[in-house]
Amino acid sequence: MPAIIDKIADALHLHKTAFDSKVTVIFVLGGPGAGKGTQCARLVQDFGFCHLSAGDLLRAEQHREGSEYGQLIQTCIKEGTIVPMEVTVKLLKNAMAAALAEHRSGEGWADGRGRFLIDGFPRKMDQAEMFEHDVAKATAVLFFSTTEEVLLQRLLERGKTSGREDDNAESIKKRFNTYKDQTMPVIEHYEKLGKVIEIDSSESIDEVHAKTKSAVAKLL
Ligand code: C5P
Ligand code: MG
Repeated sequence: MPAIIDKIADALHLHKTAFDSKVTVIFVLGGPGAGKGTQCARLVQDFGFCHLSAGDLLRAEQHREGSEYGQLIQTCIKEGTIVPMEVTVKLLKNAMAAALAEHRSGEGWADGRGRFLIDGFPRKMDQAEMFEHDVAKATAVLFFSTTEEVLLQRLLERGKTSGREDDNAESIKKRFNTYKDQTMPVIEHYEKLGKVIEIDSSESIDEVHAKTKSAVAKLL
């Protein structure tokens, strides 16, 4: 949002999100194993994004000493269910504030601004609503799509070394169900708003990256 709109909103006492015009936010969605994290790492190199994975932030919070949410997060991750939105939105908001406080250099970070890839979020409609109301508006949604067979193969392969408690056949099945029931409606919502960029992520990392990079370049 241009600065002038912020000023008008201030004058009229209209609702503003925490970061408003300061940030560019791209949500990154796709089934578990679609390659979200891998592609985000590439986009960090290409465009200087701050990459925040909701799942990684939840795992860090789960293991943080003194966290009141540790047990809750562990159970949700194992069962492939969605952690209550307040927890995840708060972690993301804090991480964004911390990144902005670093006053990074580089394109997109001048004058207190920042650009963010929010990976694996929003997984459920309530998360989307809360984030866009309280934190910032999303510019676009990158949607990495592929078949369930490809996802399953990748997750089982990753499970050999990831050490993740949810990369096993039983948890994967539950995660697929949550994805279909809760996350697909989020993608459909943003599709209606014309904000979804769908990328077939069945191909190699390099091929998917080439398509993703050119799509994101057009957004910035
Ligand atoms: O994205 P990732 O596969 O790392 O997420 C792991 C788990 O973290 C999910 O299955 C879910 O239990 C939880 N999660 C969540 N809300 C998000 C992202 C992840 O509840 N937005
Ligand atoms: Mg991930």
